[in-house]
Amino acid sequence: MTKIRAAITGVNGYVPDYVLTNAELEQMVDTNDQWIRARTGIQERRILKGEGKGTSTMGIEAVRGLLEKTGTAPEEVDLMICATVTPDMQFPDTANLIADALDIRNGFCFDLHAACSGFLYAITAASRFVESGAHKKVVVVGADKMSSIVDYTDRSTCILFGDGAAAVLLEPNEDGYGIRDSLLRSDGAGQVFLFQKAGGSRYPASPQTVENREHFVYQNGGPVFKAAVSGMADVVAQSMKRNNLSVDDVSWVVPHQANRRIIEQVARMADFPLEKIMINIHKYGNTTAATIPLCLWEWENQLKAGDNLILTAFGGGFTWGAVYLKWAY
Ligand code: COA
Repeated sequence: MTKIRAAITGVNGYVPDYVLTNAELEQMVDTNDQWIRARTGIQERRILKGEGKGTSTMGIEAVRGLLEKTGTAPEEVDLMICATVTPDMQFPDTANLIADALDIRNGFCFDLHAACSGFLYAITAASRFVESGAHKKVVVVGADKMSSIVDYTDRSTCILFGDGAAAVLLEPNEDGYGIRDSLLRSDGAGQVFLFQKAGGSRYPASPQTVENREHFVYQNGGPVFKAAVSGMADVVAQSMKRNNLSVDDVSWVVPHQANRRIIEQVARMADFPLEKIMINIHKYGNTTAATIPLCLWEWENQLKAGDNLILTAFGGGFTWGAVYLKWAY
């Protein structure tokens, strides 16, 4: 019996119109364009503006376009997973809100929280449902409205993040295309370096938590930087080794976009030329769960059936991983 694999058969992204430039950030905090470009590679990010708009607003647009472009009817979707750390609400899940807006009612949906590794965790989870033969059309959407949890008085974090969403459709494939290997890791010892302290069950919202600015992202950038480089370089090397892949065999590396210097160091350690690395951090900053599918969306026209891709991410938790897939179209 041929093995069923989960192949990506379509991708679509959505970024809000508002462009937050380094020049505008210079008016908000003590920073400058040159520092931001040199230390992170970011030139601008997109911000979702408007009362009552949340992560689902962007997720809906990404998934709507995905269904249209792949000719998928809402009733055909039998599972949707939304990777996010900025759900519209604690519950119901953002995936449910997206599904409701698009009339997806024949399957089930849930959110998956793995910070910047969320998309890799989610496509891996989704791939198991497809490989089992039980699910035929599975949507995975990575979406984050980071501007809702970023402190725009903290120059060390507010320059990094942006808002965005992108979604892929996964379908069964028996011709060798699709997700071939996932190597996922987590280490809770990283919890002290990158977190949003309040708003959960341990520190529910109170005047005190608001006053202490504890509903915002806290990051100790140095240790996160080091762990991100070594974590991603390690899983990329392991993934290539156990799949007998050389640098020449791999068409593209698709890294999480957190800092251009992190991406460059991982590329150097894994011996990849930068021409094979998808990088769009200059335009969008770090959109957390959306960075990798936004890259796939942007590069879609350059991809060919049979291309070997390695996706890699690192994020809060710590969480990290690498996914090896053969592009299907
Ligand atoms: N503008 C100007 N100066 C800034 C600044 C800003 N926006 N942010 C920090 N600085 C200052 C610091 O205060 C520090 O000044 P000091 O030396 O007088 O104390 C100096 O720049 C260097 O700060 P440092 O934190 O050592 O810079 P860095 O080179 O480590 O870059 C990050 C900071 C956040 C860009 C970097 O650590 C990083 O990208 N970390 C990982 C991010 C990440 O991957 N996060 C998400 C995981 S998914």
